[in-house]
Formats: sequence, C-alpha cells, structure tokens
Amino acid sequence: MLLSQLNAAASPLSQEQVQKLQGLVAELNPIQQAWVSGYLAANAGALTGGVAAAPAAGDAAPLTILYGSQTGNAKGVASKLKEQAESRGLSVKLVNMADYKPTALKKEKFITVVVSTYGEGEPPEDAESLHEFLATKKAPKLDGVKVAVIGLGDSSYEFFCQTAKDFEERFNKLGAETIFQRADLDVDYDDEAAKWIDGALDAFEPDLKAQQQASGGQVVAMPFGAAAPAASQYTKQNPFAAELSVVQKITGRDSTKDVRHVEISLEGSDITYTPGDSLGVYFLNDEALVDEVLTLTQIDASSTVKLGDEELSIRDALIEKLELTQSYPGFVEKYATATGNPELLKLVEDKAAMREYIEPRQIFDIIRQNPAQLEAQTLVDCLRKLQARLYSIASSQAEVEEEVHLTVGLVEFDAFGSEHLGGCSGYLARRAEEGCKVKVFSEHNDNFRLPANDETPIIMVGPGTGIAPFRAFLQERDAREASGKNWLFFGNPHFTQDFLYQVEIQGYLKSGLLTKVDVAFSRDQAEKVYVQDKLRKNSQEVFAWLEAGAHFYICGDANRMAKDVHQALVDIIKENSGKDDEQAEQYLKDLRSANRYQKDVY
Ligand SMILES: Cc1cc2nc3c(=O)[nH]c(=O)nc-3n(C[C@H](O)[C@H](O)[C@H](O)COP(=O)(O)OP(=O)(O)OC[C@H]3O[C@@H](n4cnc5c(N)ncnc54)[C@H](O)[C@@H]3O)c2cc1C
Ligand SMILES: Cc1cc2nc3c(=O)[nH]c(=O)nc-3n(C[C@H](O)[C@H](O)[C@H](O)COP(=O)(O)O)c2cc1C
Repeated sequence: MLLSQLNAAASPLSQEQVQKLQGLVAELNPIQQAWVSGYLAANAGALTGGVAAAPAAGDAAPLTILYGSQTGNAKGVASKLKEQAESRGLSVKLVNMADYKPTALKKEKFITVVVSTYGEGEPPEDAESLHEFLATKKAPKLDGVKVAVIGLGDSSYEFFCQTAKDFEERFNKLGAETIFQRADLDVDYDDEAAKWIDGALDAFEPDLKAQQQASGGQVVAMPFGAAAPAASQYTKQNPFAAELSVVQKITGRDSTKDVRHVEISLEGSDITYTPGDSLGVYFLNDEALVDEVLTLTQIDASSTVKLGDEELSIRDALIEKLELTQSYPGFVEKYATATGNPELLKLVEDKAAMREYIEPRQIFDIIRQNPAQLEAQTLVDCLRKLQARLYSIASSQAEVEEEVHLTVGLVEFDAFGSEHLGGCSGYLARRAEEGCKVKVFSEHNDNFRLPANDETPIIMVGPGTGIAPFRAFLQERDAREASGKNWLFFGNPHFTQDFLYQVEIQGYLKSGLLTKVDVAFSRDQAEKVYVQDKLRKNSQEVFAWLEAGAHFYICGDANRMAKDVHQALVDIIKENSGKDDEQAEQYLKDLRSANRYQKDVY
C-alpha cells in the first residue's frame, strides 16, 4: 500500500499518527526511508524479544521454528518456513536460538530446527548455547514432542551439516520424535529447501490443526506484517548488475599477499546496507580454463545444455553458471561414475582418501588429471551451481552513499606446476575490468553491528582483510560524530608492504576518532607477533574497556586467528579477575548474549 493511501481504518495507527508519518516520510529520500524502515523493524523486533510471532491460538502450542544462522541462509529458510506455515493457517513462532530460553522447551510440542554449520562441524554462534544445553543433564525430557530438522552446509567441508545432525540426535535422545526426515542441504539449497518445507508442514499440519481446533483458537494475523528490514528487490536469486568502478592493489610490490580495494557502484539499485553487512558477488570463471576443460572432455563449445529451465551453450554455462574452482566430494563421485575412472571410483569408497585427494585440487585439476570424453549435459550434471562469494562491506553509506567498498584478498597458489586462482577473487583482481558489470546483492548480518549507543567504546580485532568491516564502522562513527572510544588491532606480515588503509587509519588516529591502534606485523622481527599477542600485552587495559561496557569484535580468519584471539581473551579475563577457565568462558558467553562479543569470520 502506498503511504498516500494509508488511513487510520486500514492501519493500526490513529489519523493523527498517519498524518505525522506521511509528513515525515515526505521529507526523506529513498535511502533515508529504507534506513528508517529497517531501524523501526529492528526496534520492533527488539521489543518483542526478536520474535516476530503470530499469537498462539488459545492454549495451543504453536510450531516453534528455531534457527541458528551466521550469514543469513538458515534465517532465510526459517522465514520461508514461517511464511508457508502461516499461509496454511498454522500458528507459528520464529525464534533465533540465541534469543530462546531453554526453559521454554518444556512447553513445546512441535519444533523445527533450521541451522547451518561452521568451523570444523561447529554451530553458528547464535546456536552455540542451545546446542550445548541440549547435551547437558539440565535439558528436560521431551517425550511427546515432534521435531523436524533441516541443515544448511557445504559438502566441500568434512563435517557436512554436522550441527543439524547434532541437534536431531540431541532432541531424539531427550525423547522427541522426528516427524519428518532431516535434510542436509548443500550450497545450492533453494529448491531442496522448498521441497522440505512442504513435506515438513504436511507432516505437522494435522496435529497442529487438531490442537488449534480443540482449544478453540484462531490464528491472528500480525497487523503490520513481520518485523523484517526493508528488503531490496535485488537478492541472491535476483542480483543487481552493478558497475565495478575501482580495483586497486593495496599491498606493496614486494608483499606476499595481493589485496585489492574494490569499489562498486550501487547507482540505479535500491540496495542499502549497514556497517557489518556483507556483499554477495557473482563472478565469471576463467575462459582459458573453460576452453581447456572443453578440449579435455572433447565437448563442442556450442553444444546446448539445460540448467533447470534454462537452455544455453555449454561454454556459457561453464563460464557463468557452474562451480569450477571449489572442489567437493560430490563432484568426484559424479565425475567418477560418468567417466568410469577406476581410481576415482576407488576414492568414492574411502572418505579419508577422498578428503586428501580434493584438498589440494580445484575442479579444473581433477578434470585435467583425469580427462575423458563426455556428453555436454553429462559434464553439466556433474557440477554444482556457482555460488556467490561474500565479502564484508568496507564502507558506510553515510560516507560513500551509493557505493560499496570491499577489501578482497586474492586466493593464489601454485599446484601441479601451474598458478591457481580463487574463482571470485581471481575474477575481481585479475580478469574483471574497471567499468564492467558484476552481479551483487547485500546480505544483512545483524550479528555484527555497532552498538546502538554512540558513547559505547568498541574494540576491533581485524588482521588482514579482517580490517574491512572496521573501516565501515569507523566511517559510520565518524559520520555520526559518535563519542564512544574506538580501539583497533590490526596485523599482517610486513609494515611497509601490508599496512592496509594505513593513511586512513593514521588520519583517524590523528583526528581522535581512533583512540588507540595496535599493530602486529608478524614478520618484521625475529619473533612472530600476532594480534592476540598485542591483546595480551594490553591485558589490563583491554579488561578495563570490557568492564566499562566495550563491545568486542573479531573479523578475518576463522581457522586460527579467531580461536587464538578468543583464547587470549579468556586469559586476559582470568588474569585480571581471578576467574578460572570456566568462569572466564562464561564471562564471554554473557558478553555474547548481550551482543557485546561479535565475530565475522571466514
Ligand atoms: C561472511 C564472509 C565474509 C567474508 N569477507 C571477506 C573479505 O572481506 N575479504 C576477503 O578477501 N574474503 C572474504 N571472505 C571470503 C570470500 O567469501 C571467499 O571465500 C574468498 O574470496 C575465496 O573465494 P574465491 O572464489 O576467490 O576462491 P574459491 O574459488 O572459493 O577457492 C577457495 C578455495 O581454494 C582452496 N585453496 C585456497 N588456497 C589453497 C592452497 N594454497 N592450496 C590448495 N587449495 C587452496 C580452498 O579449498 C579454498 O576454500 C568472506 C567470507 C564470508 C563467509
Ligand atoms: C568459515 C566457514 C566454515 C564452514 N564450515 C562448514 C562445515 O564445517 N560444514 C558444513 O556443512 N558447512 C560449513 N560451512 C558452510 C555454511 O554452513 C553454509 O554456507 C551455510 O549455508 C551458511 O548458512 P548461514 O548463512 O545460515 O550461516 C562453512 C562456511 C564458512 C564460511
């Protein structure tokens, strides 16, 4: 409904409120309107404890959808599940696991779990507490409870959808009955998720309806729709073709790393973002490698293939639509069957050997080392859909308006006698030309946000490309003239080669926006020094900031850095408070629950 058509009868507002709203909106440009809409939605979410729920009918237990999500995929599937359930007239409650009180489990009768997996088979942050709680003695018996679990993951990881498996197992152990078979979804999950949602709701519907009728309840629609931020028409499924304006190398000539500062214009789109969000970027595979694959498989480049409902040439499909860099066991399995290659077929039987085999190889390598004549469609059916890569946004719209900036580290390595590049970083750094169009969408991340209060101090730990969201935070705080103190920890191999955004950081230090900067250039002295060492060196002061209410952020490498920084924090808390390991971990858990300890790691 257009705002001009809004009246008191058609809304929960009084006529006076409608007039005030119309007056205010008339003064705002589209970006400001989107921001206000997102702000109000988030505020409404906070007031309802982050739960956008249709009221439960009478005493009837609703279908509770518990989701755990880091980058929004599981949250998106959970929201679709909620929509579909409501469209069937079912009473439903959508809850982020981080906001869920485990004591509420006793009242549940119908539960769905939608959860992704991180690290080495670990839950996303917002699912950690519930995941852990369900395995403790404190967890209640759940006899009579019906549950269905859907996992989101990536089959290129060893522990595929492990968290979903854990949740189902833990619920079952407590007595809950799986009412619909768990689905473990890979990166290309949309169609499978839609099928699972249908099936799961078919399974829950009879019990839920019977119960709603027995209690004489009715499902009441939410007056103002769900409290979701204003959404752009451009999404992962419908990306915006944006102009790539700048790709600039920001590491030195002698650096071991190639990091690019990338600027993309969002002009002509309705995409908005908030510091802490990521940008999804689609890319084109290397044409030379695609042609080599076609030669190796003796396929004519103009052969037509089908991808879903779309028909296109195999060459175009391989360049634009299919994954050719990130390897995963599913490809080896399908390629082994399609080619009848005995060595590859042997790998399919041995999980450990398969892992070892795919680890150093891109899909190109596997085809190159095992060439075979194939039908065009057979090759296509072996490959999975190309997935956009996410990049933490390195700018604030308060400063750059309709632009979005990224900090992209080029993935490059030598293997089997040739140079290898990552699919997307290789495209952005080496193949894409400034001025060309790249398909993008913005991915909201409410798990990585500046404090609402501008006076709150923040500590940011962002070595390497982990600096990206902190550049956005600083731009935003600068524009807002936020008075809160800002402390940055940055690290990389060498001061002269790898000090990303050095001039800006020094400028912010000079202007006073940055209260403190601690840098760890690991290879500038005999002994390696990392950001966690710098934190430890400032142990007392870091603890004092935390005690004074600081929010603590980590961005960058998930495998080692984030774990080492976490351990440094545990040690700092122990050292300054006399707490033991368990109590220090609890201190951090409490910070996390208060949204004061946030990670954006990959
Ligand atoms: C929320 C989020 C935020 C992110 N933010 C940023 C950011 O700000 N900046 C940034 O640069 N990246 C960021 N990333 C990572 C980014 O999304 C991509 O994963 C990264 O750019 C690599 O993608 P690619 O397509 O270039 O490489 P891919 O084609 O995906 O290839 C990468 C794969 O190559 C393999 N590989 C890498 N090195 C080697 C080696 N030496 N030997 C053998 N195999 C190897 C690994 O299997 C690796 O998974 C972020 C990721 C997430 C999830
Ligand atoms: C750093 C990182 C680690 C991951 N580890 C795993 C893993 O161990 N197992 C798995 O199945 N998927 C893994 N994934 C894939 C995610 O689970 C997958 O992208 C999922 O769709 C993310 O959903 P979310 O946005 O709801 O968090 C990982 C992804 C990232 C970025």
